[in-house]
Amino acid sequence: MAKRSIILLPDPVLRLVAAPIGTVDDEVRRLADDLLETMYEAPGVGLAAPQVGVSRRLIVLDVSEKDDEKQPHVMINPVIVQRSDEPNVHEEGCLSIPDVRAEIERPTSVVVRYVDRNGALRELSADGLLATCVQHEIDHLEGRLLIDYMSRLRREMVVKRFKKLARDRAMM
Ligand code: NI
Repeated sequence: MAKRSIILLPDPVLRLVAAPIGTVDDEVRRLADDLLETMYEAPGVGLAAPQVGVSRRLIVLDVSEKDDEKQPHVMINPVIVQRSDEPNVHEEGCLSIPDVRAEIERPTSVVVRYVDRNGALRELSADGLLATCVQHEIDHLEGRLLIDYMSRLRREMVVKRFKKLARDRAMM
């Protein structure tokens, strides 16, 4: 396993629609392992392949409590097949947009269908933090970011700040 670097706003890869994964081979499993390691190291509760610059449909998640046993999820080509009507507002952050939080309303629970690391088709019912997290990570595969849920004014301020940070990094 190897830690990869997380790309930041306004990297254009974050805005691409990610390509489906055809075959679950060793390369895909290696990418999943790298994503998990990168997520745990950050630390975060979810990470999508586009966030390490790989525009493919793979996400990893682990919402277990700090001192509990790890519960890693690897989801390949995830699709939400059911959403509850009941909305839930949760404050979200994103490893590609550090230090920015947004209150986002999403369905409280979802059923997600995906292919696991062994190539088997699976379904998972998620609620609470896991449901929020699954929806946030699947957004990444569509090139959608948490700033898209903000008011236009706030979004433009955040983008401007990150463009400046990227220019400053480029000059160092
Ligand atoms: Ni994110």
